[in-house]
Amino acid sequence: MRCLFLGDIVGKSGRRAVVDRLPGLIESHDIHFVIINGENAAGGFGITEDIFHDLLDAGADVVTLGNHSWDQREALVFIERQNRLVRPANYPSGTPGRGATMHTARNGAQVLVVQVMGRVFMDALDDPFAAIERELAACTLGDHADAIIVDMHAEATSEKQAMGHFLDGRVSLVVGTHTHVPTADHQILGGGTGYMSDVGMCGDYDSVLGMQKDEPVQRFMRKIPGARFTPALGPPMLSGVAVEIDDVSGLATNIAPLRLGAVLEETVPPLWLGVQSSG
Ligand SMILES: [Fe+2]
Ligand SMILES: [Fe+2]
Repeated sequence: MRCLFLGDIVGKSGRRAVVDRLPGLIESHDIHFVIINGENAAGGFGITEDIFHDLLDAGADVVTLGNHSWDQREALVFIERQNRLVRPANYPSGTPGRGATMHTARNGAQVLVVQVMGRVFMDALDDPFAAIERELAACTLGDHADAIIVDMHAEATSEKQAMGHFLDGRVSLVVGTHTHVPTADHQILGGGTGYMSDVGMCGDYDSVLGMQKDEPVQRFMRKIPGARFTPALGPPMLSGVAVEIDDVSGLATNIAPLRLGAVLEETVPPLWLGVQSSG
């Protein structure tokens, strides 16, 4: 099975990239399941129900969130009726929505998607390791799911790597989101779990994390809040990771970063020529 995970969509530029390019990617690379992080899809802050539907129409099977889950207040309400929308599982009990969801891929496989949020340089939350342990106790790879994809929404690469090794051999893929900057460490861990510390963002990289540059630069220089951050609107890059998952074991056999867009168009390696499992 082939899965594609796209990083945080930032504003209109990022949405345009997904709507324009994702349907073709699914077709040309025979992708069976698509997960997208949508926490910054609405003007850089949160997600609306209309935008959520646009992402599903473009080919997303599941949309994940993060620390910006509730920036658009309507998400607190519509997440209850949208079972393809996932927020971190380690939010306090009583938080609307769900931290995990299972759906059928285009090849018939049952895919569980779980999101947890890190605690290093982030808001204080429940323990993400305990939270995912609970989710996996309820749904194990091979018995209840053909593939398990984990979105580790976190700032620190150390915490993300720790989560990768904690889950190695028990899930298909652990990917980091949140930093908006792709890392170059895509790999298959010793136990067979695909891993990448951060998949980067879908948006305009001529920016500070997808936002127009001037205001962030001023805030760092003067430490005085000024205008609101607004998404950069230049040519976007689509950024993510593709993983091939064994139909029997549910573990990763091939992982490759995906970066398609204005700057790197000519230098993108073809998918499925990434790191392959040795076993
Ligand atoms: Fe983000
Ligand atoms: Fe985030």
